[in-house]
Amino acid sequence: MKFFIDTANLAQIKEANDLGILDGVTTNPSLMAKEGISGEAAIHQHYKTICDLVDGDISAEVLGTTFDEIVAEGKVLAALDPNIVVKVPMIKDGIKAIKWFTDNGIKTNCTLIFSAGQAILAAKAGATYVSPFIGRIDDSGWDGVQLIKQIAEIYAIQGFETQILAASIRNANHIIACAEAGADVCTCPLDSILALLKHPLTDIGLAKFLEDAKKLG
Ligand code: E4P
Repeated sequence: MKFFIDTANLAQIKEANDLGILDGVTTNPSLMAKEGISGEAAIHQHYKTICDLVDGDISAEVLGTTFDEIVAEGKVLAALDPNIVVKVPMIKDGIKAIKWFTDNGIKTNCTLIFSAGQAILAAKAGATYVSPFIGRIDDSGWDGVQLIKQIAEIYAIQGFETQILAASIRNANHIIACAEAGADVCTCPLDSILALLKHPLTDIGLAKFLEDAKKLG
């Protein structure tokens, strides 16, 4: 399973990248706004900076919602760097645009996926990635990981090549469950990635080893 970091914060991206396990980055308009980035030029520059930091796929979300707007914006975003993946919402014009990008060799991430039907449509259009939002599904009383499992089964049966990018991750258990359920990629906040490191028995064991190491001279 590939690891992406789900943030537009450059310090967090650097920290995750320094671990040596990072395969890419996802952003969205809310994450960009959180960093105080506004205006087309600043947004584009921010994507370029992220592409310079990380060697992997970088999702950049379009803001338009019509076919013409999505295609026009996506072409500009894709021209910023070869690693840019155009992130497109799961709407009717979004699906049409994903098909256009597929036919023109531009990678896409179909975002805001909440059902297996949506994942089938995105795969039919040739999306590189689909992003089921598992945390938001859990928040609404459904089972996000179950959706990952269902999509993985359907894609395997049908031979779809679209990669399942588990998004809206809330904790380390989500990452483990997504790996088990067959996600190709998990995009995680930094604290969920770092939480994977932790186990109290590791801390206790290391403290004992360090104490005994002093006896070794
Ligand atoms: C990433 O591609 C998604 O936009 C993101 O994971 C959504 O996360 P949230 O549900 O925590 O906002």
